[in-house]
Amino acid sequence: MNPRHFISLHDLTSAEIRALIQRAIALKNNRDLTFQPLKGKVLAMIFEKSSTRTRISFETGMIQLGGNALFLSPRDTQLGRGEPLEDSARVISSMVDGIMLRTHRHETVTTFAKYSRVPVINGLTELLHPCQLLADMQTYFEQRGDIEGKTVAWIGDGNNMCHSYINAAALLNFNLNIACPEAYQPEPAIVNASTANVRFFDTPAAAASGADLITTDVWASMGQEQEQKLREQAFKNYQVDRPIMDAAHADALFMHCLPAHRGEEVTSDVIDGPQSVVFAQAENRLHAQKALLELLLSEKCS
Ligand code: CP
Ligand code: NVA
Repeated sequence: MNPRHFISLHDLTSAEIRALIQRAIALKNNRDLTFQPLKGKVLAMIFEKSSTRTRISFETGMIQLGGNALFLSPRDTQLGRGEPLEDSARVISSMVDGIMLRTHRHETVTTFAKYSRVPVINGLTELLHPCQLLADMQTYFEQRGDIEGKTVAWIGDGNNMCHSYINAAALLNFNLNIACPEAYQPEPAIVNASTANVRFFDTPAAAASGADLITTDVWASMGQEQEQKLREQAFKNYQVDRPIMDAAHADALFMHCLPAHRGEEVTSDVIDGPQSVVFAQAENRLHAQKALLELLLSEKCS
């Protein structure tokens, strides 16, 4: 049987995402240490880029579910010396029960999935960050209930996080207002699959108007460090500050996948203020991914 991968949110149905969110909430409240559905299972974690939340949440999640996780850096494996991805995927997947990858090129993850005999999970590529969206959606559901019909404003770069919000808008049927500088718009191919749920605005204030959730991300993602100065100029009018939050509903939430740059994409008073749920969101990476690991790696599903 072909393994089930999680490379994009579209690898799950709307019903499965809602069920996974409820499962994540249940696991968060589960204090039963004898619950070990992944006993004896091993997750390989391949990181080409830095990580705090993704690494710790996957590793802790595997341990809490009774399994183990291996941190693999290309620096220390033959991947960094050019062993073909196809061979690496075959070899690694012959020894472990799941593979999580964070890579520079999305194609690395899709190639792994093609040649892996176990589930492959996208832990962030330059194109998508679907695991973060599971945590974001869990956080919204916990704080406000189902997101269907609500309005989310994405302000800033049309990047991997923006792309996964576009996917989520179609799957969970919410409205996504996007305000990005002209040269930093999201990929048309991703937008075109969600047109009914996505609208574009010229200014952050217009996108934020009437929103239930305001979210943003860094102006320069991993791998774009050399563009930092250029991007600071391009994004200077795209900061989430108090006036932007005031344009949204009075009870609107603020989210950021973190790490954040206070004084750039968000002001301190917003990210450290009462509408911000960024630390609940970060913690939910653990719970949402435990639900995902249980779904993909437990006996009954793999
Ligand atoms: N949000 C997120 O993926 O954080 P890390 O880069 O620390 O994993
Ligand atoms: N867009 C950011 C997200 C980090 C979690 C990046 O790719 O660096």
